[in-house]
Amino acid sequence: MKLTELLNIENLNKQGIIHLLSLRDEFETKLLFAKADKVRKKYCGDEVHLRGIIEFSNHCDQHCLYCGLRLHNKNLPRYRMSKDEILNTARFIYKAGIRTIVLQSGEDSLYDCSEIESIIKEIKNELNVAITLSLGERSFEEYKIWKDAGADRYLLKHETANPKLYSIYHQGDDLENRLVHLRYLKSIGYQIGSGNIIGLPKQTLEDIADDLMLLKKLDVDMASISPFIPSPQTPYGNETKANVDLTLKGMATARIVLKDVHIPATTALGTLDEIGREKGLKVGANIIMPNYTPNPYRQNYQIYPDKKCISDDPLACGSCLTLMIELLGRQVGKTKGHSLKKVLA
Ligand code: 5AD
Ligand code: FES
Repeated sequence: MKLTELLNIENLNKQGIIHLLSLRDEFETKLLFAKADKVRKKYCGDEVHLRGIIEFSNHCDQHCLYCGLRLHNKNLPRYRMSKDEILNTARFIYKAGIRTIVLQSGEDSLYDCSEIESIIKEIKNELNVAITLSLGERSFEEYKIWKDAGADRYLLKHETANPKLYSIYHQGDDLENRLVHLRYLKSIGYQIGSGNIIGLPKQTLEDIADDLMLLKKLDVDMASISPFIPSPQTPYGNETKANVDLTLKGMATARIVLKDVHIPATTALGTLDEIGREKGLKVGANIIMPNYTPNPYRQNYQIYPDKKCISDDPLACGSCLTLMIELLGRQVGKTKGHSLKKVLA
């Protein structure tokens, strides 16, 4: 089948997805990117939504083979931000005009459920924002308490749709369990975000195709397709970093397959390539997630090294990103930028 025909198929199958991910010819790749950009414009318009991230704890109980926050990394200074520090950062993000606050941490089971509940309540009470939680796997009771406290969204990447690789990367954990959590989060009314990492060791194009089909099946509201960056203090510290072009093809194909979802141009992509986020916004992405973690904590949220903007003053990021977005002929979204799937209050 000709590429132009393939790009017009409403529901691509796995073979079709693999075909798009394998494109090598420059002209054909351009056609893929142009199609993704068109689909993005149709479903998302020209607004780019900013989500302000607060990485409030880098403690983590898990052992993901690729992640610098893993429990066994004893070289990383650990921190927990206090409630007041988190609330002040949230106010700062609001003043910057951003209407989604992402509370992110490692899987820190010692950060108390009720403390998080009260942070959610105070933010929602004081500021007109949406809250995304990105705290890893917690108990179903906790998810429910935080939803009732006012949290809007939960971000939990599935990381890889290949159960064998999932179990290798996460030291015996079960992919199905992760999916049970995602389905539960959706069932109690969270908008859910998930996603995969491109370029992890042992991964094939077929695995990436399965990632995109899984995201479709989960009916996610947000899909993050981000590149692997080897992190020195981990077992995968000497592996090869992801290929930027393959990551962009993954994002573009995700846009074509998933259509009405939010797709971020990730910090990891901006870290691998100086203009990675701009490239991402041109091939289907419509979200940027600037980091507002205050100093001195920022440099210790080291999932991978040389994270984009790590040494920057958080103040500078807003204007820098606005300029980048406007230079692309797009606008910064002024609303909460809820799920594109349904209109929520
Ligand atoms: N490279 C890229 N992304 C990573 N993550 C963890 N480690 C790495 C790495 N080395 C991603 C995971 C996790 C998110 C917080 O960061 O997808 O869910
Ligand atoms: Fe942080 Fe540009 S996005 S300085």
